[in-house]
Amino acid sequence: MDSDAQFEDNTVMTLNYNTSWNNETVLQQGHLEATLAAFNQDTPQNWLVSGEKSRHDLHGLIRYPAMMVPSMQGDILDAILREVGTDVHVIDPFVGSGTVMTEAVRRGLEFTGIDINPLAILICQAKSSVEAGNCLDSAVVQVLEAVKSDWSEVVEVDFHKRDKWFEPHQLILFSRFRRAILGISDRAKRSCLWVVFAETIRSCSRTRTSTYKLHKRPDGEVVSEKAILDTFERNLYSLLDRVAEYKADRAFALQSAPTPELICSATENTCFRRRGSHRVVITSPPYGDNRTTIPYGQFSYLALNWIPCSDLPKVPVSTGLANPAAIDFASLGGSLKDAEQKTAKIEAISTTAKEFFASARVAKNEEKLRKVGAFLWDYYVALKKVNECVGAPSHWVITSGNRTSAETLVPFDQIGREIIESFGGKWIKNVERRLPVKRMPSKNNRGDMITTESTLVASFG
Ligand SMILES: C[S@@+](CC[C@H](N)C(=O)[O-])C[C@H]1O[C@@H](n2cnc3c(N)ncnc32)[C@H](O)[C@@H]1O
Repeated sequence: MDSDAQFEDNTVMTLNYNTSWNNETVLQQGHLEATLAAFNQDTPQNWLVSGEKSRHDLHGLIRYPAMMVPSMQGDILDAILREVGTDVHVIDPFVGSGTVMTEAVRRGLEFTGIDINPLAILICQAKSSVEAGNCLDSAVVQVLEAVKSDWSEVVEVDFHKRDKWFEPHQLILFSRFRRAILGISDRAKRSCLWVVFAETIRSCSRTRTSTYKLHKRPDGEVVSEKAILDTFERNLYSLLDRVAEYKADRAFALQSAPTPELICSATENTCFRRRGSHRVVITSPPYGDNRTTIPYGQFSYLALNWIPCSDLPKVPVSTGLANPAAIDFASLGGSLKDAEQKTAKIEAISTTAKEFFASARVAKNEEKLRKVGAFLWDYYVALKKVNECVGAPSHWVITSGNRTSAETLVPFDQIGREIIESFGGKWIKNVERRLPVKRMPSKNNRGDMITTESTLVASFG
């Protein structure tokens, strides 16, 4: 359904995409704050759909951990566009699988995405190639035929603990898939095929699918040769369906979007050129250090060791793929070096952080508190860097969760607000969303829990 939105100056913005939210009163009113309040009062139904059903077209190419709800981010972005126009540069400094990127590109906007995880950037590159016109039908047929006629038993890769995560028949099959994909000459097409390959590895190797951590399945649960072949084929056809669905939706667009800028790097070390007359930072940062919350690096480790380096985004030097912990160690809060000093520094910026540490110290779990302190400071440093690049005028939309650590709730949303205010940002509102069955550990082996999800909206200038 196309919809037209009326600007206050009576120019008409044509929105070539589906909005899940259609509150005429607020739409005419055009005020961001009122729109956000309306979201809180009456949560749009699409925001409450969870799992695969919420992930139409490109959003469902791969199951990346902690993906955002696309319709929610799209609706909030629309509410901002109604206020500031469409000469907008959208930035996601923790881009993950590119939920925000796809929503920004769908609206024809400039986009920059940053992530420390090369698999995340590869997924974004694949999605962005579809917008650029990538057509995959013949490549999929070629790959399937190549796999059928490949009887070689040569195993193509070797890496640390490879044989723990793959049975001999799995090594042979994945080697055939890999050779078949490398037979496709076009790199953009290969990027999409590697995403299918990564999704197949995740569900068919010896690691459990019930956790993002690398965790060996029981011996009786090895995935058979037939099941792997079926899964790969099904995933390839699903890629074609999703690309067709996306293209059908985008067919109404008058022009294609500018090519997104995708940077594989630590956000705290990255700057980018600002574009457009207004910037919108939309992101969902990690909720805590990767090892305690979601180990994005472990989740990606197996696939990254199968995909040739030449087809991967350049890995940040300090990270490497040497072992499953490398990416997680380089991520926010990954290192506990100087944790005490970092804690003191974040306490000086956020009174809520200070109160948290004061009450959590009663639980006497110093190790956990050092992790929270190190993470919060790293998060502050990353946002500070983004703010330096983004400048004003801008809007910020940060979706985060509150979890408990050391038996105390970490009010991450409030700490985020205080960080933004310390840069001179003006808080507008928090939009709350009930967590349905988010694919995220509600409780992990250290007893840290993620309980709520809240989206902060703020502005600069
Ligand atoms: C919550 S996920 C983002 C998910 C994304 N919103 C989506 O819908 O797929 C957070 C991301 O932050 C990334 N990350 C963690 N530390 C980082 C750092 N220092 N610099 C850049 N990215 C980082 C992780 O690799 C992960 O992909």
